[in-house]
Amino acid sequence: MNDDARQYAPSAARNRDPIWNVLAPHMPPRGLVLEVASGSGEHTLHFARASGPELIFQPSDPDAAARASIDAWAAASGLGNIRPAVVLDAAADAWPVDRADVVVCINMIHISPWSSAVGLVRGAARVLPAGGLLFLYGPYRRSGAHTAPSNAAFDLDLRRRNPAWGVRDLETVADLAVAAGFAAPHIAPMPANNFSLLFHRRP
Ligand SMILES: C[S@@+](CC[C@H](N)C(=O)[O-])C[C@H]1O[C@@H](n2cnc3c(N)ncnc32)[C@H](O)[C@@H]1O
Repeated sequence: MNDDARQYAPSAARNRDPIWNVLAPHMPPRGLVLEVASGSGEHTLHFARASGPELIFQPSDPDAAARASIDAWAAASGLGNIRPAVVLDAAADAWPVDRADVVVCINMIHISPWSSAVGLVRGAARVLPAGGLLFLYGPYRRSGAHTAPSNAAFDLDLRRRNPAWGVRDLETVADLAVAAGFAAPHIAPMPANNFSLLFHRRP
């Protein structure tokens, strides 16, 4: 394993503690946490380090350089509760993991086509048991409006880079998840005009 593959995402260093503060009380003591779109792998690393050895983390990303980074961080950490990163496209009808107790996805749905959000909630509904948690984090519009000028500028920039990307409406994402089998979300406002959304799978 080449430690030089490790990537450093400044945003992950900033948001990992606020995210963990919201997420930790909802984590089971043991089981499997599937992270979709793990990117550099710094969130999985941080959460796995803060968890007991029986809570196993399964990171994933479609990007090979991201997977190399995730695996390099895991190897350097010496932690035993991080599995090797797998290829997972949220939009795909089949995922390489067929059950998990928690699904976490941070900062993906605004920076990929809407089909990724649709696939994410459908996939999470497939792999989670009743009561299982789908955790989303990122910027959202509320009731059709941006929550801050910086988010409006970010949205414009995203859409310029790729017309299929963009900051999504929180209510539209919530409707999608409810239609896929989740209860209405608990919504936690986060620093820098982001939100955490916690959806529990209905029985
Ligand atoms: C902005 S990065 C966020 C990475 C990490 N979660 C974080 O917050 O630092 C977006 C990530 O989404 C991944 N991604 C894009 N489209 C995806 C898809 N359809 N399924 C899964 N991951 C995807 C990219 O490869 C990238 O790693």
